[in-house]
Amino acid sequence: MTTSYGSAEALLTHHLSSHPIVGVRPHVVERTARRMIAAFPGDVLYAVKCNDADPVLDALWKGGIRHFDTASIGEVRQIRRRFPGAICHFMHPVKSPEAIAEAYFEHGVRSFVLDHEEELAKIVQVTGRAKDLDLFVRLAVPGEGAVLTLTGKFGCEVHEAPALVRACRAFGRSVGITFHVGSQCLDPTAFRRALGLCGQVVRETGPVDMIDVGGGFPGRYVGDEPAFEHFVAAIKKAVADYGLSGTPLQCEPGRALVADGASVFARVELRRGASLYLNDGVYGNLAELKWIGPQFPLRAIRADGQRSEAPLMSYDLFGPTCDSIDSMPGPHWLPSDMDEGDWVEVGQMGAYSNALRTRFNGFETGTVVFLHDEAFDRVRLQESRSEATFVYAQAA
Ligand SMILES: Cc1ncc(COP(=O)(O)O)c(C=O)c1O
Repeated sequence: MTTSYGSAEALLTHHLSSHPIVGVRPHVVERTARRMIAAFPGDVLYAVKCNDADPVLDALWKGGIRHFDTASIGEVRQIRRRFPGAICHFMHPVKSPEAIAEAYFEHGVRSFVLDHEEELAKIVQVTGRAKDLDLFVRLAVPGEGAVLTLTGKFGCEVHEAPALVRACRAFGRSVGITFHVGSQCLDPTAFRRALGLCGQVVRETGPVDMIDVGGGFPGRYVGDEPAFEHFVAAIKKAVADYGLSGTPLQCEPGRALVADGASVFARVELRRGASLYLNDGVYGNLAELKWIGPQFPLRAIRADGQRSEAPLMSYDLFGPTCDSIDSMPGPHWLPSDMDEGDWVEVGQMGAYSNALRTRFNGFETGTVVFLHDEAFDRVRLQESRSEATFVYAQAA
């Protein structure tokens, strides 16, 4: 059974562990799901790859998520087992015949994405020319505006897409277009550009049955990333401007749905000047601190639950493994009196944290606990800093 704590401070005073801890805030995940579903004019699919921990999936379900972007047969099985009534969409453009067959015949999956005629032939053949396929053509779109681009691996070019859409029409019950603008996309106009490309395709093929605008909506790490609602406004306007009005929409966010729903707690094992050596790192729950960069809200919590009141300084962080890739260069702002045994709460860690962790080098991946306090974000960080300053000023 997963243990629950009222706050991050209570966790660190009562939970005696020398391993990293993932603190999931299910009420936050549920609330974010409700907000995004309310804002988006179509179905919101959750991209399971982003965080497949059961408490996170359960909170999403409670928040109203019923559609899932399951991009492997393992994810399809997991979602089917946990939520028999869920609708799974197989949104990986390259699938094995075995995975297609199991998804279609055993798990009732009908939506499949593809970006090549050979993949279409495979889906058609494996499903025995099924008459109830919902096929999506994945379009290649520019990755501008995204911190992590997804260009170069999947997607057909816009000049190839009309032929593929027409080929799909010969077999599909419905045919849609999909794209992914890249993860942690900070620019709503990236969706406008991508929808402009969809418009070009549709001018040649006639209307399609669905447009899936993918994921890419950002987590709010620095705090000034545009909110989901801004992206939705840009999408609605582009749909109208590019002659796509009336086409049903869906989206498949991962990061934006779950980022604020968890924190990772890592302990300092050694301080060497401005370098902190932690018990968690790039091969554990903190890969995003390297790939996204030093953007996440951090705060120090003493093992006795107290906050430090010292002024901040910039640190570089290092993970526990022997590999020098396991470093997370700063500036990571933490109190200047950080020491061995202190814990660091990394906020906004619900996305691509526990999903990417490994047991490389024999290090424990950490326990999962529930937290009932508010998400640890930039706003709470500022509040805790001004509180700390206030306490310090009173004491002085
Ligand atoms: C096909 C597809 N859909 C959705 C997502 C989720 O993206 P994000 O977490 O950036 O919203 C991904 C991520 O790689 C993806 O490949």
